[in-house]
Amino acid sequence: MLSKPYLIDSNDLSSDDLEIIFKKAKYFKENFDGSPFNDLKNVTTAFAFFEPSTRTKLSFELAAKRLSGTTISYDFQSSSQLKGETLVDTIRTMEAMQVDLFVVRHSTNGTPEMLQKNTSGSIINAGDGTKDHPTQGLLDAFTLIEKYGDLSGLKVTIVGGITNSRVAQANIKILRKLNVEVFLCGPKQLLPTDKIWEGKIFNYIDDAIEKSDVIMLLRLQKERMDEGKMPSMSEYIKFFGLSSDNIDNKNISIMHPGPVNYGVELDWEINKNPNCLIQTQVQNGVFIRMAVLSTLAEKYKKSSG
Ligand code: CP
Repeated sequence: MLSKPYLIDSNDLSSDDLEIIFKKAKYFKENFDGSPFNDLKNVTTAFAFFEPSTRTKLSFELAAKRLSGTTISYDFQSSSQLKGETLVDTIRTMEAMQVDLFVVRHSTNGTPEMLQKNTSGSIINAGDGTKDHPTQGLLDAFTLIEKYGDLSGLKVTIVGGITNSRVAQANIKILRKLNVEVFLCGPKQLLPTDKIWEGKIFNYIDDAIEKSDVIMLLRLQKERMDEGKMPSMSEYIKFFGLSSDNIDNKNISIMHPGPVNYGVELDWEINKNPNCLIQTQVQNGVFIRMAVLSTLAEKYKKSSG
């Protein structure tokens, strides 16, 4: 059991919760042989994505299938929300159909929290606006633990538009719980102010590379940019973009949550670097989401007899 019966904010996770999730994810990764586990047998999960997603949605769906769960996918474009149904009523409608777990992505900060107040099921935040993306933070931390073991003292620099990135928020919260030294690098307009962020900030990616064990690049999110907050694309690439030339033969891990804007945050060639962890992050996303679903489903396990 986790300390809370839902997963809405990365700060919901205690150190014990992190240990439970990482241990389960490791077990699933080491023991998955193509046959499903039974952790979600007789448990129903709904996927309600109100924003586009490839990795999170597919990996949650695959995770539920690999745990023998029953699943439904809500499709906004063909739903009664287009006829005026409210978000709360959508969730309540699915609850009446005996859905137990709701995996929700929404562009508005705080939507999962608001929905949790209106259901007796469990909401799992699959990304809300610029606020949080807990399972992304978990899978990133798990990927680093696999590579480095104990993360105490590891130096991770998050590069990009920090203030409008839910991936950055999730990672800052979770990595700090694991005693990682988190640094930031990005355009001044998209960094937290000194009042909010007391840690180190780099103005150029080359400085960050010099001082870090891991560089975590963020997608440049044009859809969340206020007018005037966007540096020019050429400036962004010059100061914050990663190419093979930047890293040369340096022993530094490279992460990106995806989807990547190739030629902006990083060059395609980086994928060939043995320290590039992007595909491992995607692979681990399935196992972390299996661990989260399995743990939260314990409350709903019904006897099949
Ligand atoms: N990292 C991530 O959330 O990717 P998707 O938007 O494809 O789910």
